[in-house]
Amino acid sequence: MVGKFITIEGSEGSGKTTISKFLFEYITSLGIKVILTREPGGVPVSEKIRDIILHEDIDYRTEALLFAASRREHIVKKILPHLKQGYIVLCDRFVDSSLAYQVYGRGLEEKDVVSINDYATELTKPDKTFYLDVNVDKGLERIENRQHNNKMDNEHNEFYVKVKQGYDSIAAKNSDRVIKINANNDIELVKEEIVEKINLLLKKWNCL
Ligand code: TYD
Repeated sequence: MVGKFITIEGSEGSGKTTISKFLFEYITSLGIKVILTREPGGVPVSEKIRDIILHEDIDYRTEALLFAASRREHIVKKILPHLKQGYIVLCDRFVDSSLAYQVYGRGLEEKDVVSINDYATELTKPDKTFYLDVNVDKGLERIENRQHNNKMDNEHNEFYVKVKQGYDSIAAKNSDRVIKINANNDIELVKEEIVEKINLLLKKWNCL
């Protein structure tokens, strides 16, 4: 059986990393084959590209191209092979991040970012996406005390407002794929909602 591809999206302070790990542990506990991976990164070459993107001062188009290049390597070396072996592949960020951050946040042309990503992914799309929707102020408040270790953590408020508008618009346009989760809630409530939603999906996909 071919596996399923689930992505987890959301802006800074949405709880995405915690929820991704929780989801991975939950699915593992059900005895289902699952991997958790992330973008940018996931495989050695993509992790090297991640290091450049997140720490060097680069042009926005260069940045978009590097995200797409890192994604290409990740898909070919890790995502597709695991899907072929029947795994559920959980991925912390994917193409929606490039649309939210590079198009809405940075102001690049949507058609360009879509085109380089179509080339990189050969139209590999997630089966489902969990979008952890957090208000900008709440998200920034959550990361306030965190050690800021990449340049995206140091943007102006306006940038995060645009990223959120991007995600909201992506979720609205792809309502068949994107499951919106209210991430302003306490993390335990978010976990409950995620469990409810993933159980429905696993039943639908005959994994349970
Ligand atoms: P990371 O430290 O993984 O942040 P987070 O925990 O929020 O996922 O850094 C990834 C950053 O890269 C994050 O700010 C979002 C950004 N990004 C893009 O701008 N475009 C992309 O296509 C991807 C995958 C990430």
